[in-house]
Amino acid sequence: MTPLPPGYRLVDLTEQDALEMMTLDAWAFAIPTDPATSAAGPLPVPWERARGVRDSDGALVASHSSYPYREFPVPGARVPVAGLTWVGVHPASRRRGLLRSMIEDHMSRSLGRGEPVSALYAAEPAIYGRFGYGLAAHEVRLRLPRRAALRDVEGSAELTVRLEVADPELHGPTVAALHAAVDRPGWADRDARQQAAFFHDPADERNGGEALRIAVVERQGTPLGYAFFRRHSSWEHAGPRGTVKVREVCVQEPAAARALWGVLLDLDLMATTEVMSLPVDDPLLGLLVDQRAAEPRWVDNLWVRVLDVRAALAARRYSAPVDVVLEVRDELLAANEGRWHLVGGPEGAEVTRTDRPADLDLDVRELGAVYLGGTSLSGLAAAGLVREHTAGAVHRSAVAFGWPVAPVSSWVW
Ligand SMILES: CC(C)(COP(=O)(O)OP(=O)(O)OC[C@H]1O[C@@H](n2cnc3c(N)ncnc32)[C@H](O)[C@@H]1OP(=O)(O)O)[C@@H](O)C(=O)NCCC(=O)NCCS
Repeated sequence: MTPLPPGYRLVDLTEQDALEMMTLDAWAFAIPTDPATSAAGPLPVPWERARGVRDSDGALVASHSSYPYREFPVPGARVPVAGLTWVGVHPASRRRGLLRSMIEDHMSRSLGRGEPVSALYAAEPAIYGRFGYGLAAHEVRLRLPRRAALRDVEGSAELTVRLEVADPELHGPTVAALHAAVDRPGWADRDARQQAAFFHDPADERNGGEALRIAVVERQGTPLGYAFFRRHSSWEHAGPRGTVKVREVCVQEPAAARALWGVLLDLDLMATTEVMSLPVDDPLLGLLVDQRAAEPRWVDNLWVRVLDVRAALAARRYSAPVDVVLEVRDELLAANEGRWHLVGGPEGAEVTRTDRPADLDLDVRELGAVYLGGTSLSGLAAAGLVREHTAGAVHRSAVAFGWPVAPVSSWVW
């Protein structure tokens, strides 16, 4: 493991370190909230996995932890995934290798717990590729004009939409049940602590908006979906020009999507509805008559690091039969290096070491990128990041690694 610079040491963190950790977090992310307030609020930090770096004076100057996603959805299966989070380095200690040491610490601990994959949501896209994380899921962000036209869906007029202030007691069970029912790669579930933090809505973190609201779409009292949103009013010379900011949308059927968006796109005094974290195949994109008017932007969502090539590739399913020898490069985890024979399909997969010549060669970063089925292996090959040694291997593998449901995480962890 890369040694820390002299004077620094890696330590375990516990709940007793909450104030110090929130002080560090405020420094790392320029958070205006008083750290004591943050430390007292519902904190989703997985303390049992929290690690820090202390300097020679004993001050906490860096931290990281990971969520234990025991059943993280990947194409056709569920896999234990370490969800790297709470990564921060104090600005006075940056760029001297603290993150690198923490990443290596995270990787060896995750492997020790039997987690073959690590995933994260990056504050900045340029940080994690060097550690073998590949861009595995994209999200669409939209800026929709008021009353953006939507195509009709049969049955949507019969559904009702309740608008209420989001309340963990009242809405928590409905949100948890609808969220857990989604079957989409990358759609990480929230445990009780994460759910409490998700609902937590202190007044000084609303950026001038109202308290967090929820729209629940129902058929005769049975919830079929929900959206969290917040309105920001703005009065301009020409009249009201408010913005609705939608935070998470979850729907179980087309009519529910149509009914929900019909309401969110036509709230009085609002001129624009902004939404992020939509999967690239979200139903709203199909419903919009004029997608261009919604100013779609496509950005990175989840980054995936394959920590154990054999276990990770054997755990997921493949859209079509595949029989391919992959030559993998991995600068940080030598056990992944070399040639792997993958034989798989929709029912399962086997991965073994082989001496056979490689059909494809690629860095572990590219393996992470294609792992959730949302990044095209042939697109990576076109960029020179996957090299083909057997004619047709890129095409066949791209079909197998792809997946009909686009990956996304609906929330920033
Ligand atoms: C991003 C952050 C964790 C990096 O920590 P650090 O200790 O300075 O990183 P290291 O010194 O270990 O750098 C490791 C490598 O990553 C590079 N790197 C680090 N941060 C980077 C960034 N924001 N953009 C691009 N490259 C970055 C370094 O240049 C170095 O490159 P090298 O291996 O080629 O020399 C730290 O700057 C930070 O806390 N930033 C604000 C909060 C944040 O963004 N956290 C991440 C949440 S996902």
